[in-house]
Amino acid sequence: MQWQKNISLLPYNSFKIDVMAHYFATFEDDDELLSLITNAKTMDNTLYNKLFVLGGGSNILLTGHVDGFVLRNQIKGFSIIHEDNEYVYVKVGAGENWHSFVQYCIERNWGGVENLSLIPGHVGAAPIQNIGAYGVELKEVFYSLEAMNLADKKVRHFTRNDCAFGYRDSIFKRKYKGQFVILTVTFQLRKHPHINTSYGAIEQELDKMNIQQPTIQDVSNAVIRIRSAKLPDPKVIGNAGSFFKNPEIEEERFLQLKKEFPDIIGYPLPNGKVKLAAGWLIEQTGPAEGKSWKGYRLGDAGCHAQQALVLVNYGNASGEAIFSLSETIAQSVDNKFSIQLEREVNII
Ligand code: EPU
Repeated sequence: MQWQKNISLLPYNSFKIDVMAHYFATFEDDDELLSLITNAKTMDNTLYNKLFVLGGGSNILLTGHVDGFVLRNQIKGFSIIHEDNEYVYVKVGAGENWHSFVQYCIERNWGGVENLSLIPGHVGAAPIQNIGAYGVELKEVFYSLEAMNLADKKVRHFTRNDCAFGYRDSIFKRKYKGQFVILTVTFQLRKHPHINTSYGAIEQELDKMNIQQPTIQDVSNAVIRIRSAKLPDPKVIGNAGSFFKNPEIEEERFLQLKKEFPDIIGYPLPNGKVKLAAGWLIEQTGPAEGKSWKGYRLGDAGCHAQQALVLVNYGNASGEAIFSLSETIAQSVDNKFSIQLEREVNII
């Protein structure tokens, strides 16, 4: 594919923000990517340094036109690269839809990603923020990835350790931010699945479904039911999932807060810290005394009525309007709890 000029990014971001990319192109393999980046340099040397790769566009907020080159990753394909008694190793194109990959695994009874059902976005974006939900994080099933270094155009192999995964974090959000294009991701999946129902909401949902001995398909169904009840479907209402991270604080600080706010929700972490439910903190604050942000709407920008951690675009909100609402919400959480919320969504 060739570079196109002045293309709307509306179809390519789940927040449904209507901004333009100065140059836009999609690529389906390494060679296409290589020729596009080579051409970009000849076409417009001044904008060449502004190369931006888009996956499913489900974890970004576009706050203005993108004055540079936007590349959309469409590398597809699944291949089994190795198998032993316990595991199967599957290499997946970074442009595959995440949930299609989850379904592909469930159909073959390969365990590990069922708790991550229905997360929007592409496979290649999953390692960047170490996606996680319902008691499982990507790093637990991740084996390796291949990525092209934009500086020397060489393909580099990354192991789990190389990626420095953390809570919604990896080396691609820090030291290597914007420097690599992820091409494929290899997963290590269990041939004899271990069922993980440690997250309370899954147990409750399986009870409601009357299932005592769940299969990975049952766990996936339960997760889909919980997500559909709480989280807005980006096809219907623009959003990018949780807008902020759940803050981690020292236990001592948590106990102080608990005295003042007995209902505060916190989960002890293995490192001795406590993870606070940011959704609860946001729900407890609001635009005025006695009012909550949860369900709040200003124009077309809002805070979701079922999950305060999710900001939404009801139609024609600008990226700036959503960003500004997020700043106001973070400020009021800081005013009430002296907790600084950190954004999970990438602002562009
Ligand atoms: N809560 C409230 N009010 C709210 C929202 C939540 O009081 O408006 C409380 C809930 O009642 C519950 C606790 O907060 O006691 C946690 O809520 P929930 O289970 O919905 O999960 P979360 O911590 O808000 C995180 C992830 C989600 C993931 C869920 C399930 C982050 C930033 N978010 O949300 O991930 O689906 O857990 O594991 O860690 C995402 O990253 O985009 C995302 C949706």
